[in-house]
Amino acid sequence: MIEGVSVRELQATYGTPLYIMSEPELERRLDLVRNAFLDKYPNTYALYASKAMSIAAVYDKVMAAGLSIDVVSRGEMFVALHAGVPADRIHVHGSNKTVQDITFALENGITHFTIDNMREIGLLSGLAAEQGVDVDVLLRIVPQVVGGAHEAIQTGGVDTKFGFPTHDDTYLEAIKATLQAERLQLRGIHCHVGSQIQEPTLFINTVKTMVNFIETIRQETGYTADVLNIGGGFGVAYLESDDPLDFADTMTQVMDTLVAEVERFGFPLPKIGIEPGRWLVANAGATLYEVGTVKEVSGVRTYVSVDGGMTDNIRPALYDAEYDVIAATRMDEAKTFEAKIVGACCESGDIISNRSLIPPVEAGDLLLVKATGAYNFSMASNYNQMLRPAVVFVKDGTHRLVVRRQTLEDLVACEIVGQST
Ligand code: LLP
Repeated sequence: MIEGVSVRELQATYGTPLYIMSEPELERRLDLVRNAFLDKYPNTYALYASKAMSIAAVYDKVMAAGLSIDVVSRGEMFVALHAGVPADRIHVHGSNKTVQDITFALENGITHFTIDNMREIGLLSGLAAEQGVDVDVLLRIVPQVVGGAHEAIQTGGVDTKFGFPTHDDTYLEAIKATLQAERLQLRGIHCHVGSQIQEPTLFINTVKTMVNFIETIRQETGYTADVLNIGGGFGVAYLESDDPLDFADTMTQVMDTLVAEVERFGFPLPKIGIEPGRWLVANAGATLYEVGTVKEVSGVRTYVSVDGGMTDNIRPALYDAEYDVIAATRMDEAKTFEAKIVGACCESGDIISNRSLIPPVEAGDLLLVKATGAYNFSMASNYNQMLRPAVVFVKDGTHRLVVRRQTLEDLVACEIVGQST
C-alpha cells in the first residue's frame, strides 16, 4: 500500500512500469521549505529546480506552496508555461543559452535570468534591447567549493563549464560588463556547488565564500549585491541506511553564518535564494515494476528482470546510484534471496540494483524501487523504443493519472516516412 492505495490496484489500472508520487510527501517537503526557510527568514526566496521532475502536476504543488521555479531550456520553459506557471515565477539558468531560448523567454514575459558566461552578457543585453524589455540578472560565479555525490554532479570547483571563474578577475570583469550592459539590471550573484550533498558544512563554506566575493566585488567595482542565490544540492536518503541532510537545521546554520559574515563586513544582508530540486521530489516518488525472467547463474548470482530499467532510471548506470528495492507482493516474507535487479534493455549496464536482499520472487511479482521521484522521469529515454511510463499521484486512498504512458504511436510521431530519397 502507498498512501492507502494498493500497488496491485495501480498495476491493474495503469500497468507497469509506473512512477508513483506521494502527494502528501511532496506537500510535506514544500511545507518544510516554507516553514524552515521562507517564513522563518525575511527577504528570502526559493526556486524549485524543475529539471528534477518537470511536469504540470508537480508545478501545481510548487506554485500553491509559493515557490518559483528555475528552468534550463526552452523545453522546460514551454512545459512550465503550458502548466500555467506565471512568467514572473520562472528563472532561466543554463550554461549555453541559445538565441532561441532567450528570445522565447523574452517573448513570453520571462525576465529573470542567471547569466553563466561572458557571451551571454552581450547576447541577453542585445536581445532584451531589441525587445525593449528590462531583465533582472544574477551572475553565476564559481564558488571554488566542491561538493556532490559523484563527479558528474559536482559543479563548484575551478575546472567547470559553469559560471564565471573566481580564481582570476573574470567575475569582476563580468560584474563591470553587466553593470554597463543595456537593459540588464544586475541583482546579485549565484552559485551551485553540486548535487546530493549530505554535509551542512559545504553549504556553510559556500555562504562564507560567497559573502567574501560580495565584499571583494564591492571593493573592486563599488557594486553591492542585493541577492545571493546559493543554489540547490540538498541531499536525500536513497537507502534506508543513508543519513540524509537535515534541511531545517542546514538552513538555520546557513542563515546564522550569513548574518555573522555580513556583519563582519557591514554591508546590507542580501536577499537569499535557494533552489532545491532533488530534495523536494526524490523521496515522494517510487517506481513499480513487474518481475519477468528470474535467472539463476549457478555459483554466480541470480538476475531478476523487470519490465523497465535504464530507460526509466538511468541513475545506476550514470552515477552508480543505489536504490532500495521492495518485493511489494511479498511484504510478509523473509528476505532470503539475494538478486541483481536488471531491466529489459539490451545492455549489461541496464541495472536497477546490483545487490538487493528480497524474498524469493517469480514472474508476476511486483517490485517497488524507492526514492525515484527526482531525475528519473526527467532523464527517461526511449532507448530500445521502450515506452516512457505513466506517472500517478496517490493521496488518502485515491489515485489520479498525471502523465499518461507513452503509446507505440508516440514512438513514431516525429518520424518522416514514405519519402523517396
Ligand atoms: N541549481 C542549479 C544551478 C543546478 O545546476 C542544479 C542541479 C540544481 C539547482 C538542483 O540540484 P538538486 O537540488 O536537485 O541537487 N541528474 C543528476 C543531478 C544533476 C543536477 C544538475 N543540477 C542526478 O540524477 O543525480
